[in-house]
Amino acid sequence: MKKGEFLYEGKAKRLYKTEHPDILWLEYKDDATAFNGQKRESLAGKGPLNNAISSWFFTLLSQHGIGHHFLDTVSDREQLVRPVTIVPLEVVVRAIAAGSLCRRLGIPEGQRLPNVLVEWYYKDDALGDPLVTEDHIALLELAEPEQLAFMKAQALQIYAVLQQALEPKGIVLVDFKLEFGLDSSGRLLLADEISPDTCRFWDAQSGKKMDKDRFRQELGGTLDGYREILERLGGKANV
Ligand code: TMP
Ligand code: ASP
Repeated sequence: MKKGEFLYEGKAKRLYKTEHPDILWLEYKDDATAFNGQKRESLAGKGPLNNAISSWFFTLLSQHGIGHHFLDTVSDREQLVRPVTIVPLEVVVRAIAAGSLCRRLGIPEGQRLPNVLVEWYYKDDALGDPLVTEDHIALLELAEPEQLAFMKAQALQIYAVLQQALEPKGIVLVDFKLEFGLDSSGRLLLADEISPDTCRFWDAQSGKKMDKDRFRQELGGTLDGYREILERLGGKANV
């Protein structure tokens, strides 16, 4: 498989064609951004860490029969994925209050929620990715009700699989964000990444943050947290 024509650059990844129309080449960059791109920095080695961690999570989901776009890891910062047309929604799953939930509803950080929540955010940089209701999603024709039901069920199933895998490793899964896309046959498929950029991971003993909140909140040692996650998953960090 060869890296082909450049297709798209996002905040954290670049996408290329391959010689196979049904396979794309995804490269994880070292760039870190927060607050809709207003804060940005290059963290040398973030790309390889997220590539390895994301590959680990997608492989775990395969073992549980959950489909996704990930096919294979091809280098320290690159993987092969299925092409999808991204649904412009961020699907956020929350088990413990943190981040925007605390700011929006006044719930103290760290409070376990009585039920796991699923929220929808409209992926639109100009609007700052606002929280939207299912009625808003229908109004904007972003997804059909059956597609929302599918994504919600998948999101909750993914929470269960991830939480069960992380608990014995002393990692608390606080919340995370998923993105889905439509594949060539119109089926919804989990896409994007699952990494410390898109999840909140806390140490079960100390509550130490091991995710992008270290960067967002300027706590320092961002990549030490990412490295610790990879090592606890049994992976080797070369950076
Ligand atoms: P939030 O509390 O800031 O809304 O974030 C919820 C989860 O979604 C958290 O795990 C971080 C993740 N997230 C992203 O992956 N991308 C984003 O742009 C934002 C705002 C959050
Ligand atoms: N992905 C978001 C951005 O740069 C930030 C975040 O994860 O908080 O803008």
